[in-house]
Amino acid sequence: MSNPSEAELIHLFKGIPFTTRSSPELLESLDTFDAREDDVLLVSYPKSGTHWLAGVITKLYNTQVTLTSPIEFGDISKLEELNKLSSKRIIPTHLDYNMLPPNFKNKNCKMIYISRNPKDTAVSMYHYYRDNPNLPTVDTWTAFFDLFLKGDVVCGSWFDHFLSWEEHENDKNILFLFYEDMKKDLPKIVKEITLFLGLNISDNDIQDICKKSSFSEMKSDTEKENSDPSHTVCSLTSNRKLIFRKGAVGDWKNHFTPKQNRRFEEIFNEKMKLSKM
Ligand code: A3P
Repeated sequence: MSNPSEAELIHLFKGIPFTTRSSPELLESLDTFDAREDDVLLVSYPKSGTHWLAGVITKLYNTQVTLTSPIEFGDISKLEELNKLSSKRIIPTHLDYNMLPPNFKNKNCKMIYISRNPKDTAVSMYHYYRDNPNLPTVDTWTAFFDLFLKGDVVCGSWFDHFLSWEEHENDKNILFLFYEDMKKDLPKIVKEITLFLGLNISDNDIQDICKKSSFSEMKSDTEKENSDPSHTVCSLTSNRKLIFRKGAVGDWKNHFTPKQNRRFEEIFNEKMKLSKM
């Protein structure tokens, strides 16, 4: 069987590339989504550490919570499915701020935005594209590098995504986190998350949660998770091995040529000139 064509895998909604796993009807109807005040949103550009953050957060609750797949994944029945959940909902999303269902904003739902050095994000996404039959074929890193800088990849431009959320950095219901800070001192960041979510968790329990959320622990859990179709943050693959690849800071140095690095920096400086990052 031949590989599906790009048109079969990708469509544009409001100028942003989505996979066909996000139906246009669902995307269209997100505006009407009925958020609940106790929903927690996990927001990220793909490959920024969403699964890691989700792994940590679900371990923080001792009441029942449901980690859903991203709100924008699925067909129109998705909204009804989410409506039916009786437990507290932890909802991931890769939507940029302007596309977020307005009810999450009106109801002041708590949102955690995780960001990562875009160079490492690009490399992580390249490997994910390469090994994932649900995404268009990319032949070389060089070709993917250009697509990433143009924003011609799923979820669009990293820069636009980050900037749309950074504008709301000081909103009281939004917590901004960085992958690199989690790598540096996970207990510190987990403490920050518990304070933000209003959870009372002992330092011992935090240490324990951090151990269980290490890259090696999470990676070795993958076998188990592979057999549980309900456990998925990313609906683009049921192969968890695609998610837990290297888990390192600075892998971009193994991929970027000096020329690519200069070009990336130029574009970064231009696009991010109004950013505080
Ligand atoms: P790499 O491809 O660089 O290894 P997302 O969950 O948003 O798709 O992000 C996936 C990236 O997060 C992958 O990066 C993955 O290895 C990394 N990751 C997942 N769990 C992690 C953990 N516990 N610690 C560090 N990195 C982790």
